[in-house]
Amino acid sequence: MEQIPRPTVFDFHGVSMTKYFTDNWDNIQNFQARPDDILIATYPKAGTTWVSYILDLLYFGKTCPERQETVPIQERVPFLEIIIPSVFTGKDMADQLPTTPRLIKTHLPVQFIPKSFWEQNSRIVYVARNAKDSAVSYFHFGRMNSLQPEPGDWSSFLQDFIDGKVVFGSWFDHVNGWWEKKQTHSKLLYLFYEDLIEDAGREIDQLCSFLGLSFSAEEKQSVVTEVKFDSMKQNKMTNYSTTTIMNQKVSPFMRKGQVGDWKNHFTVAQDEQFNEVYKQKMRNPAPQFRTEV
Ligand code: PPS
Repeated sequence: MEQIPRPTVFDFHGVSMTKYFTDNWDNIQNFQARPDDILIATYPKAGTTWVSYILDLLYFGKTCPERQETVPIQERVPFLEIIIPSVFTGKDMADQLPTTPRLIKTHLPVQFIPKSFWEQNSRIVYVARNAKDSAVSYFHFGRMNSLQPEPGDWSSFLQDFIDGKVVFGSWFDHVNGWWEKKQTHSKLLYLFYEDLIEDAGREIDQLCSFLGLSFSAEEKQSVVTEVKFDSMKQNKMTNYSTTTIMNQKVSPFMRKGQVGDWKNHFTVAQDEQFNEVYKQKMRNPAPQFRTEV
């Protein structure tokens, strides 16, 4: 793929977005979901790829083992709103998925989800990650991914993150908006990255019970092993090494995979400022995050 130009963010119905996620808007909004679709929704860098791979293994690990060896995760689980003009759109990829169920990824805030997902009552798995580690991971992602705006230095990126001037808008609005939706929508499972780090097996049990799947202890353990950070980092089908828009020499996609890396980035002053903003922006009742495990 040719080098694509770095985009800039603009206000799109109250959310900072770039053309790579808005240029196919009408088609995205008219996407026809099915009742058995599973939507994996996240704010960027919350563990989307991790949960995508878990779900792919749960559904297709036994029936289509060759899929794991030959099809990159970003093709198995298309990114609904992405458009690279003249190359591909996530919407077309989702339409062409041959699997049942279809696993589909989105970073859209809850108010932008195509209405057919609600009409069809499709299951949705939302994954959230604490704000400080999300900001750090997103900063390094911006450095290595030419689909992202230039992140600038860490302190200017952190200010943009606080102000919601990053792609897909405010972390605060995103996690709170989806949390509010969860209060009334029973087909929505809200998971936390920190819980997955603490005990992936326990969270896989939660996923299975939400999806109505059952596995032996041995089968579950093989999924837990397969989705460990080091294993996914080595796996060409899950580490995005097949994607030319990412320069993994600048920063690997599978970077650290930890809770608490924010402590290596935030100065004391940045941490104090962030904690103040956090108190103001988190609504009540708000999801409870852990910044260490
Ligand atoms: S994206 O681009 O928004 O879809 O990225 P996403 O997949 O949501 O998030 C990438 C971060 O998740 C980490 N990751 C993992 N952590 C622990 N265990 C496993 N198996 C795992 N898989 C992905 C990945 O390393 C990114 O976090 P950072 O902090 O940058 O390392």
